[in-house]
Amino acid sequence: MGNDSVSVASKIYIFINYRVRSIRISHVYLLLTLPLIILISELFLGKLGVDPMRRVEETLGITALNLLIVTLVLAPLSKLTAINFIRLRRSIGLMSFFYICLHLLTWLMLDMQLRWSEILISIAKKPFILLGMISFILLLPLAITSNNYLTKKLGSLWSKIHRIIYPAIILAGIHYLMMAKTIELDAVIYLIIILLLISLRLIKLKKITWLQK
Ligand code: HEM
Repeated sequence: MGNDSVSVASKIYIFINYRVRSIRISHVYLLLTLPLIILISELFLGKLGVDPMRRVEETLGITALNLLIVTLVLAPLSKLTAINFIRLRRSIGLMSFFYICLHLLTWLMLDMQLRWSEILISIAKKPFILLGMISFILLLPLAITSNNYLTKKLGSLWSKIHRIIYPAIILAGIHYLMMAKTIELDAVIYLIIILLLISLRLIKLKKITWLQK
């Protein structure tokens, strides 16, 4: 790498580092309500096609999964760049859980119309629904413990509990894959990305040194 490109990289690095450190967490929450605002406006403008309820359910599910994946990216990204992206993780994770709750509520209230016997039959008979439910239940303790009080109180147990993210996100990926009757390429790509990100944990990542020269 030549000297010029090193100094350009280094300037970009310093800029990104500064920007990431000055991001306000409240702004992250605000920004991540955008997909919901867009979805609601599309719903009212009649832009969700012939089956709006399905589109709402799908959009909420895919937004939740995307955000969960982002939470997995932050740790390796922080290791590689030595920029503290981890401070954004809790807000992104909690917003993912918020979208999962809306996804579940859409299914319970609009799809199933709170017909509890049908809901139970669906959980028992459709493996993808069961996997979604298990993933949701696994994510529940992570959401509940993601506050300052419990983070401090649980100490090292907190990070052990938060390893549940790995089985939970794999189940969510399989839930997506099994949803359609045929295999969807998108769902396969999602699952591969999830598995690759999890396997990154096994590799010792080193900081890209030329970034800081
Ligand atoms: C809480 C239990 C859950 C239930 C009852 C549930 C239900 C559903 C249903 C019925 C669909 C199919 C929608 C359709 O017919 O097109 C679906 C799709 C989906 N769900 Fe879930 N789900 C649950 C949990 C989750 C979780 C935890 C995630 C991810 C974090 C997730 C992500 C997705 C995704 C990505 C899709 C596919 C969206 C698309 O087609 O683009 N779901 N879910």
